[in-house]
Amino acid sequence: MNKKIGVFDSGIGGLTTLEEIRKILPNEDYIFYADSKNNPYGEKTIDELNKITKNIVNKLLEKNVKLIVIACNTATTQCINYLRSEFPNMIFVGTEPAIKVACDNNYKNTLVMATPGTISSERTHELITNNKRENENIILVPCDKLANAIERNDKKDIDKILHDNLDKYKKKDIDAVVLGCTHYPIIKDRIQSFFPNSKLIDGNNGVAKRVKNQLEEHNLLSNKKVKGTLEFIQTE
Ligand code: DGL
Repeated sequence: MNKKIGVFDSGIGGLTTLEEIRKILPNEDYIFYADSKNNPYGEKTIDELNKITKNIVNKLLEKNVKLIVIACNTATTQCINYLRSEFPNMIFVGTEPAIKVACDNNYKNTLVMATPGTISSERTHELITNNKRENENIILVPCDKLANAIERNDKKDIDKILHDNLDKYKKKDIDAVVLGCTHYPIIKDRIQSFFPNSKLIDGNNGVAKRVKNQLEEHNLLSNKKVKGTLEFIQTE
């Protein structure tokens, strides 16, 4: 079945997810929808995001996709249930902060960096309740405007936002940092420099595996023997 896989985000962040998916599914055809016009998602209301993401799904459906990856933690934690109810026949794979991975590794102190929308979402709190053991601390760090500064490649703003949000944790014993926004792996070296001894975790590999499982389960894997194509759409 050689329909395309649709992948969307509020801009370039989702490319970090797409890269992982293409590593394990190179022969699939992809369409990447970068909704830069509506960036940042992290500071929008749920109603606004439901409207924006529904519109994107309709655009991807016109392109006849077989599965949609929400390559955005903010849109996933806020909208995935709504999108599943609006489009019951579509397969959605979402991206969530990798809190479970950190807890399963039994790190004592884990920072979770994400947009304000993701941090305040019910889903993030559910992930903590469902996975955190008694001896583990999860510290939530809403990084207001960081995704947008990365989208604009504004190095000065990126540095200021990182210092404002992370300096106070530098001297603490941080074992792991969850990158709970798909824009953050783009600046992972910069984040690592604040915590040279901590493990940085993102959810992209988990998403890629889930896409593969879902395609296998629904018998939708591409039967192409050559590298797949990539179509790129960007809103401005
Ligand atoms: N990449 C999106 C995420 O994973 C960025 C959100 C934004 O646009 O604020 O949350």
